Amino acid sequence: MNKVRIGVIGAGRIGKIHTEHLLSMPEVQVKYLADLYIDQMTDWTKNLGIPHLTKNYRDMLADSEIDAVLICSHTNTHTEIITAAAEANKHIFCEKPISFDLAHTLKALKTVEQHGIQLQVGFMRRFDHNFRRVYECVKEGKIGTPHIVKITSRDPEYSSKEYIKTSGGMPFDMTIHDYDMARFLTNSEVEEVYVQGAVLIDEVFAECGDIDTAVTTLRFQNGAIGVIDNSRKAAYGYDQRVEVFGSKGSVAVENDFDNTATISTAEGIYRDKPKYFFLERYHEAFRTEIQSFIQSILDQQKVFVDGNDGLQAELIAHAAHRSLNDRRPVTIREIKEEYA
Ligand SMILES: NC(=O)c1ccc[n+]([C@@H]2O[C@H](COP(=O)([O-])OP(=O)(O)OC[C@H]3O[C@@H](n4cnc5c(N)ncnc54)[C@H](O)[C@@H]3O)[C@@H](O)[C@H]2O)c1
Repeated sequence: MNKVRIGVIGAGRIGKIHTEHLLSMPEVQVKYLADLYIDQMTDWTKNLGIPHLTKNYRDMLADSEIDAVLICSHTNTHTEIITAAAEANKHIFCEKPISFDLAHTLKALKTVEQHGIQLQVGFMRRFDHNFRRVYECVKEGKIGTPHIVKITSRDPEYSSKEYIKTSGGMPFDMTIHDYDMARFLTNSEVEEVYVQGAVLIDEVFAECGDIDTAVTTLRFQNGAIGVIDNSRKAAYGYDQRVEVFGSKGSVAVENDFDNTATISTAEGIYRDKPKYFFLERYHEAFRTEIQSFIQSILDQQKVFVDGNDGLQAELIAHAAHRSLNDRRPVTIREIKEEYA
């Protein structure tokens, strides 16, 4: 195979980004784009040159030329589409999280396994140039045995009440990226989770049964300890930093900026804010993750972020959710035992 024929399902915020990246890759043909509201997207779709625009994603599954699909629709549609795509023997890239329901996730992953197709999950931060360097340092043993991982993950703004209501809550919508990053950087599974959460920014989060501020502690199987701090609104912009501290030293990365200018005046010394939000900060990471998915299909190699990575992050999210509700540490084993 020297060209991958693709269909994209869901053309919202994230589907648009992925579609535009795919269209710029010579080794890809985007043959289908499916969205329930595709008819209302002509301003965007008219110049893309995608031959089949449809409301029904099953059209692309019925096409024997299609090698792979990207699932970028709302989370509550993912497992149904994963199952249908696996049954049609299409490779799958699915946005995070796979689902809000562990039973659904497990069932979809089983179908993927039975059909022997590839499933990559959209944890694009693993492809970010800064975080990748941290990962390599830890992997090469430069900082010795990891003891502490610290992740700061704060958004510059939050979405509408409609979005918050259907987002699945902070652990599933936001911190899930940080759970994955913590696993990735420590190269270890999480054993226990404890979350302190609060509504400090806007009562709308309480009205939706959600939180806007959290500190999560993690205990890993390899003995390391992790801490993640999240906020839905940092006044100074998108704040995405990590540090891994180990027996021989530490490795840390700061935020990404559009420029390196330092402005010095009589009032003080300052610089511009970090890249605005996830679409700006992770623009290249989104591209690299899709390129990696395409390359895995072309080379028939295992994807870099697989269904098990999606599952492990979801297990942590379920434990975090319970920890918040019960105000106690929750083990991953406790969650797993309920689904054994
Ligand atoms: N990796 C990331 O950082 C990241 C960022 C944002 C969103 N996401 C994930 O991406 C997914 C989509 O989020 P979004 O913000 O782009 O949402 P969105 O609301 O902007 O877009 C979703 C699109 O899917 C379409 N859709 C829904 N059901 C469909 C179906 N059955 N068939 C075809 N199209 C359908 C909707 O019409 C809509 O246009 C979610 O799972 C979300 O968690 C990931």
